[in-house]
Amino acid sequence: MRISDPQLRGHLAELGVDLRQGAKLSALTSLGIGGTTDILRITKHESIPDLLRLLEASRIPHRFLGGGSNLLVDDGELPWVVLQLVPPAPDVVLEGNLAHIDAAADLGRTVTYCAKHDLGGMEGLIGVPGTVGGALRMNAGAYGMQIGTYVREVKLYRAATRKIETLRGHQISFEYRHTSFAADDMMLAVILELPSKPYNEILKGIRICNEKRRSSQPLGQKSAGCVFKNPPGASAGRMIDELGLKGLSLGDARVSERHGNFFVNAGHASARDMQALIGDVRERVRKAYGVALENEVVVWNA
Ligand code: EPU
Repeated sequence: MRISDPQLRGHLAELGVDLRQGAKLSALTSLGIGGTTDILRITKHESIPDLLRLLEASRIPHRFLGGGSNLLVDDGELPWVVLQLVPPAPDVVLEGNLAHIDAAADLGRTVTYCAKHDLGGMEGLIGVPGTVGGALRMNAGAYGMQIGTYVREVKLYRAATRKIETLRGHQISFEYRHTSFAADDMMLAVILELPSKPYNEILKGIRICNEKRRSSQPLGQKSAGCVFKNPPGASAGRMIDELGLKGLSLGDARVSERHGNFFVNAGHASARDMQALIGDVRERVRKAYGVALENEVVVWNA
């Protein structure tokens, strides 16, 4: 969707919104898939309520984009604009054991920065691509830890109240790859309370996790991480592997040879092919195991 009205563009500029016209989402997602739309880059959290009122009055639908690393976006001209936060500098400020982090901060760099200041706990997340806001919304986790454990406070825009609000950690429920945030809540900033740990010790943990990840996941390829959530007590990757589905392809959409729950874009995969491959694998797992795999990857259909 394109914003062509000059008056509306003027209002956006007044709100400090940077309009990127005709951006390709394939360049902004780790899968390298996604069509074209206008991107509105937000520089001031405080402008969000006015911005959303403006879009609503102009009947322009929108979606919030984080780091694009857990996302499968449809092809072609997209029927909504995309909102994205521009991280401030600095995007992480430490105060004792508290880390004040902007939602647009890069997750990996944040983990490393905290580690260098002797704050640990997040070692498992080191190789996870994306933003802190994205990790928070879905309670990203790996190697026995999850980000929700450390959340002290979250600043978010709530579409339901149309206000920027602050929630304390205990007001939010964090479950396996799921949180109590509403689908249209927009993460703005978080305060994490992290345990003190010497940098060298954190570094050891980081190296172990990096090694495990390198040996089991297709890190150099375009993917959105795990496609399916693990069903209780089982591993989606192992089930897909046991069915001999690694390497199964549809166009350039392919089940990774390295990890059955990673689907990669081996060239110029379309969203349609990737979705069809996901559907096919889900169906084969359902027939063989009687288990209905649930998506972990977020799908934006046009
Ligand atoms: N396995 C296979 N074949 C495969 C993949 C896995 O046999 O193709 C086996 C492994 O050998 C292991 C078991 O399945 O015995 C579990 O595999 P792994 O340790 O790779 O973990 P996972 O359950 O597949 C989960 C998360 C990952 C996270 C890792 C490490 C989900 C859906 N996946 O994967 O998170 O990195 O544990 O903690 O929860 C993600 O969220 O996108 C993601 C990749």
